[in-house]
Amino acid sequence: MKPTPDKHNHTTVHDATWAVHGGKNVDKGTGALRTPLIMANSYLLPDDPSNMNWSSVDDGLVYSRNASATQVALEEKLAGMEGAEAAAAFATGVAALHGVFFSLLNTGDHVVVSNITYGAVYRLIGELLSDKYGIESTFVDVDDLEAVQAAIRPNTKLIHAETIANPTTKIANVPALASIAKEAGVLLTIDATFTPAPFYRSLHDGADLVIHSLTKYINGHGDAMGGVVIGRKELVQRIRHDAIVDAGGAISPFNAWMIMRGSVTLPLRLKQQFSTAEKVAAVLESDPRVAYVLYPGLESHPQHELATKQFGGRGYGGVMAFAVEGNSDAQNRFIKNLKVITSALSVGHDDSLIVHVGRNALGGSGNYPACFYKYGHLRLSIGLEDPEDLVDDILRALDATFGGI
Ligand SMILES: Cc1ncc(COP(=O)(O)O)c(C=O)c1O
Repeated sequence: MKPTPDKHNHTTVHDATWAVHGGKNVDKGTGALRTPLIMANSYLLPDDPSNMNWSSVDDGLVYSRNASATQVALEEKLAGMEGAEAAAAFATGVAALHGVFFSLLNTGDHVVVSNITYGAVYRLIGELLSDKYGIESTFVDVDDLEAVQAAIRPNTKLIHAETIANPTTKIANVPALASIAKEAGVLLTIDATFTPAPFYRSLHDGADLVIHSLTKYINGHGDAMGGVVIGRKELVQRIRHDAIVDAGGAISPFNAWMIMRGSVTLPLRLKQQFSTAEKVAAVLESDPRVAYVLYPGLESHPQHELATKQFGGRGYGGVMAFAVEGNSDAQNRFIKNLKVITSALSVGHDDSLIVHVGRNALGGSGNYPACFYKYGHLRLSIGLEDPEDLVDDILRALDATFGGI
């Protein structure tokens, strides 16, 4: 029989091989080589089910809100990809983030959160969990390690940040945050949606849990939503019980299957997208009609050195923030003149997506660089198109917006 890779620790094969084979099961009934999509809500019970705990995930598959067969296959693959013990897949990235906070925090607990974070996290921690359940928070500049240290209180339970933050591309120094967290005896949770494994493994740099929106790079095709929490089994199981089984954050088997399929090409896609992003960012920065560019791969990015060290020179992500000269109308005109790049939310898809992030959308602590407020902010997520076509599209749109230079 053909040897299968070790599913639990990803030690026997390299990354691209794991992306193809991880979590994959030959269907026992038909011999089909693909993990089957199993849409069942319920699974056959044992002869005497009377002593079973209906909310258990430890007695095998019973009900798809607890866990479905396709979800379990996806979880095996994603845990292996991060080199971790366990993964719990959720309906969306936000459900995964909520699952972490909901399961690990109690009334009176305190969290330290990066002041540049995905908007839903700001609302979840800064408003909903605080107003409804009395969970306290401090939003800090995670680049200021002394400020992070100073924000820790006796009731602090966790520190949360994004590897490359949405929308400003701010980098979190994961090893430094991990050492502060360890010393304080608190957990470090990292949203690594913009930097999935194998590109970067936050857990290897000391994070306790890594969270991804699977909707983005890991699925990569813009046609399914999901989220995942990955880390030590004991923590992941706690989150699974509280937030999936008892709060209903389960992913649909169909979306799990789509993400399993999309993730086969993840290592290849990341290389291509991140390399194209470097080219596009350089073109934008060299054009006088562009007011500013924030991309960790540019030497002008305030944390370029940290990004190079942390990501080992393998790349700098596929998302950049920039604006063209002028006001909000100029940003809209520029987007309207693009023909290949599409105006839409989300990142990490096969097609390049741009969004004019307005002041209201920014929300959060409002702690953004001054250039965001002066010009506006275009978030560009690089897709899989030929780099030449993306550069041509941008240059043509600049010409149409400003006239040739
Ligand atoms: C960094 C980050 N985390 C989480 C999310 C939420 O993911 P989802 O839309 O799958 O809920 C997003 C969505 O844009 C994101 O950018």
